[in-house]
Amino acid sequence: MLGIVFTSLIEMLEEKVSPEFADEVITEAGLESQGAYTAVGRYPYDELVKILTVLEQKTGKTQEELQHDFGYYLFGRLAQSHGQVMAGRECLLDALEVLDDDIHVQVKKLYPDADLPQFTVLSRTEKAMRLRYFSSRDLYALAEGLMDAAADHFGDALKRETFKTSTPHTYEFSLSVS
Ligand code: HEM
Repeated sequence: MLGIVFTSLIEMLEEKVSPEFADEVITEAGLESQGAYTAVGRYPYDELVKILTVLEQKTGKTQEELQHDFGYYLFGRLAQSHGQVMAGRECLLDALEVLDDDIHVQVKKLYPDADLPQFTVLSRTEKAMRLRYFSSRDLYALAEGLMDAAADHFGDALKRETFKTSTPHTYEFSLSVS
């Protein structure tokens, strides 16, 4: 997993709680990297799981809630550091429509060893979309947070529902905006 994911998560803990809390979480998670992440480095996905597990114990929030909060925050960080990737998109559904074929493709050019999920647009009308998400990491709640933040970024009021499909690691989002 890319370092920017980890640096953003630690930044979120420092900002929303405190630097001391972030240090405590890193220590308790027993990370091989000891939390010394750089944005362009690459670290085992397992370290994200360890951090989220410690956060679950410390905050009483579920994995889904934590991933959602983090996804929301991460979008702001990504949009700030890589604004050009989103340029020219005017609304959430337009951005999601090109997520796999353009946005994440540009990410892959910047970071050739990024481990990106797969998004497939199953149907699209002006105000609604059915989007399939596949990732061996099952970070669908992170995707929900990213989508909610992207909706706010474009000023779209988003309603969404998530369905786990019978195919492993595969989820479908039913999205509508107004
Ligand atoms: C609404 C828009 C977006 C959604 C729903 C989305 C979704 C996701 C998800 C769910 C992941 C986690 C990996 C996984 O599931 O296996 C991810 C990773 C990532 N995304 Fe996106 N993304 C969005 C927009 C963006 C934008 C605008 C950027 C960059 C400018 C970006 C850059 C990245 C990067 C760098 C990673 C980490 C890859 C890695 O760890 O190797 N994403 N994205």
